[in-house]
Amino acid sequence: MCGIVGALAQRNVSEILLEGLRRLEYRGYDSAGVCLLDSDGQLQLRKSRGKVADLEARLAGSPAAGRLGIAHTRWATHGAPSDDNSHPHMSGDIALVHNGIIENYRALRTQLEEQGYQFASDTDTEVVVHLIHSLVAGGRNLQAAVTAATQQLDGAYALGVISAAEPDTLICARSGSPLVIGIGIEENFIASDPLALRQVTDRFIYLEEGDIAEITTGGIAVRDRSGEEVSRPVKKLNGSYDAADKGRYRHYMQKEIFEQPQVVEATLAGRIGDKSVLAQALGARANEILPEVQQVQIVACGTSYHAGLVARYWLEDWAGVPCSVEVASEIRYRKAAVRPGTLFVTISQSGETADTLAALRQAKELGYLASLTICNVPNSSLVRESELSLMTEAGPEIGVASTKAFTTQLVALQLFCIALARINGLPAAREAELVDALHKLPDLMEQFTGLDSRVQVTSEAFAEKIHTLFLGRGVEYPIALEGALKLKEISYIHAEAYPAGELKHGPLALVDGDMPVVVVAPNDELLGKLKSNLQEVRARGGELFVFASPEAGFESESGLTVIEVPDAPESLAPILYTVPLQLLSYHVALLKGTDVDQPRNLAKSVTVE
Ligand code: AGP
Repeated sequence: MCGIVGALAQRNVSEILLEGLRRLEYRGYDSAGVCLLDSDGQLQLRKSRGKVADLEARLAGSPAAGRLGIAHTRWATHGAPSDDNSHPHMSGDIALVHNGIIENYRALRTQLEEQGYQFASDTDTEVVVHLIHSLVAGGRNLQAAVTAATQQLDGAYALGVISAAEPDTLICARSGSPLVIGIGIEENFIASDPLALRQVTDRFIYLEEGDIAEITTGGIAVRDRSGEEVSRPVKKLNGSYDAADKGRYRHYMQKEIFEQPQVVEATLAGRIGDKSVLAQALGARANEILPEVQQVQIVACGTSYHAGLVARYWLEDWAGVPCSVEVASEIRYRKAAVRPGTLFVTISQSGETADTLAALRQAKELGYLASLTICNVPNSSLVRESELSLMTEAGPEIGVASTKAFTTQLVALQLFCIALARINGLPAAREAELVDALHKLPDLMEQFTGLDSRVQVTSEAFAEKIHTLFLGRGVEYPIALEGALKLKEISYIHAEAYPAGELKHGPLALVDGDMPVVVVAPNDELLGKLKSNLQEVRARGGELFVFASPEAGFESESGLTVIEVPDAPESLAPILYTVPLQLLSYHVALLKGTDVDQPRNLAKSVTVE
């Protein structure tokens, strides 16, 4: 999705802006631009379709410098990727960058065209800069004009605005799209993600919905939607994680797959004892709320939704608590019937996914017991707006394809499910068994990442294929869904996942020698049923690739390749079997030569609807 960086300092900020854009590249984008106010008081605009490196090349040919500037990476929504549609957009001596979607842009455009404004792009964003310009022309200063303009906007926005007439002012505003202010020493910054500014500061103000901030060389003034000046807390980010560092790995995705043993351990740390999930694992408020929970509604998107589907099996099996799981973009547009005592759970890596956030906001009107978010980004919108939060400790995830975020979500969900199950009568011996398995998880994760070279060999059978099928049963069905999503996301091979028992109800018609069928086959109570389903595939000439431990009793033969995985406790199987499927998609993408970390058309943080 689009990314914003801005800076006001006593030094040239062009390199700070470019470094910020580089750090936002992981979010997915198709063009980039920068606008700096130079020492002659002229706005210098440079923008380019393509990568930040293309913008840098343009700047090398036509340098620009200044101590006030804004920059942007664009992920096209209105208007194709092009130089003209890239941000910043300008109107006279005002320049603006925008994340989000202005829903009433057509009406505003007509109104502005009637006033004589000419449009240089097809974007929704350009109306905002002309609107601000018209308000400044009417006598307002920049801050007052941005405030008045936002009152006319429907939709979502994070804005960064500068004007040649006010060389010591940077204005920013947010509603529906994230924005932070980074605080330096006699210099301040804005960004859509703190990661963009970690090279210059570790202190941040997280703007709230409707906030408008005026950043001057003298300080920062934040006003809320009603125009009242408000004080927002300054948060210090811990850790020295350098997102720009791939270390010895070729891609972020590869690095993130191999980090899983450590981040899983970090997610468990301080949350489990020898035989039980610790009372403080979910926080003091949770201990008050969880005993009231009668049902659970889980809401998420994409990979995070798959984590929710896995949790449903655990919740109903271990806690006996009914659970529904729904994608956020659907639940937010239907009238959900809410039973008393229903806990609303969101799952999100970024904590900023527009649909999930909108579903949470709507849930607050619908009588849910309380809200819990399982999230990877402290201070994100979902964390700030939920009553309870359980953080995954995955660290920043840069690859667009979610890997370590997913497995740490499963770990956090397992802690939540065990805690709720204990309240609902889970025998202590069973809890001890589940917790004992969790203690073994980091080591087992290490062993599963050790399947890399075996999976690499297997990937060769997929690189030339057009379609694939993923099968699982029970709690492994969501893992098959996740495996298929990973493959399609980064290799662009069409992949479908089915519960294996559904094959004969339709998808079996697709099976032939050109359709590899990937099977997740842990040694569980459904194994016998699964084996019968696989016979149906073999009988139609389908080629099977089965991930199974030796105990499952598979042997490779013509048309059946067994990728042997370590034996593991049943409760951990969904977490562990995810790893070889991630590796499979990674190696297939390598063979196909696709952009592993920034697959086409996708964005990391989906902050628009
Ligand atoms: C995962 O590989 C995807 N890139 C995507 O499905 C993602 O999980 C989804 O957009 C939800 O994002 P979130 O976890 O940040 O809310």
